[in-house]
Amino acid sequence: MKKKLIAGNWKMNGSLAANEALIRGLLAGLGTPAGQVALCVPAVYLAQCQALLAGTGLDLGAQNVSEHEAGAYTGEISAAMLRDFGVRYCLVGHSERRQYHGESDGVVALKALRALASGITPIVCVGETLAEREAGKTEEVVRRQLAAVIHANGHCISEIVLAYEPVWAIGTGKTASTEQAQQVHAVLRAQLKAATAQADRIHILYGGSMNAANAAQLLAQPDIDGGLVGGASLKAPDFLSIIASAV
Ligand code: PGA
Repeated sequence: MKKKLIAGNWKMNGSLAANEALIRGLLAGLGTPAGQVALCVPAVYLAQCQALLAGTGLDLGAQNVSEHEAGAYTGEISAAMLRDFGVRYCLVGHSERRQYHGESDGVVALKALRALASGITPIVCVGETLAEREAGKTEEVVRRQLAAVIHANGHCISEIVLAYEPVWAIGTGKTASTEQAQQVHAVLRAQLKAATAQADRIHILYGGSMNAANAAQLLAQPDIDGGLVGGASLKAPDFLSIIASAV
């Protein structure tokens, strides 16, 4: 069985001092986790976190990558640049990027492609808004978002990590019920199975108000292979408790 993956998404939080305190707190309480752990940090702190995480077994992640390879794209950061800092994972298509930065399904698919080409595992985020769920469109939306990534990445799709993050559950304290989450994860797994014989080795993470109290139940579902954790990844005790639930 594959190990579970718990990825922290710090979003636009942190400082040199706070990052160091958080990582030292995590390392002090971590022991030998049963699963894999990654921290997706703001790009300006990659070098600092690379140094703090070196030799610890925790993986470094970024939160975004350019869909372009290199060149005149002021302010953008390429996959090759991320690789220079030992980045192992990169979030792509987080709902906050889709919503506030107009990232389309096509752009998200290209970002996944760029990451893979540089040896970085993209954590591709999909999820429906509350209005879409209420209109009965959840499966249609997540399938459309994933289809674009499958289409652009061909057989390499088996190298991605997928994250189901219902938009209405992100940062709201509302978690999808275990049944709701498992149901969508099963739909995504079936879609991956139609695209690759390796679908069972793909991690499908759940994200959206995962916390110390609900993690164990979510992570016990057959198609939930880990978590993408925002708010609770900023507090060492909470994140450690989620990591401990990933058995
Ligand atoms: P949250 O964020 O855990 O704070 O809901 C999850 C995410 O956006 O990745």
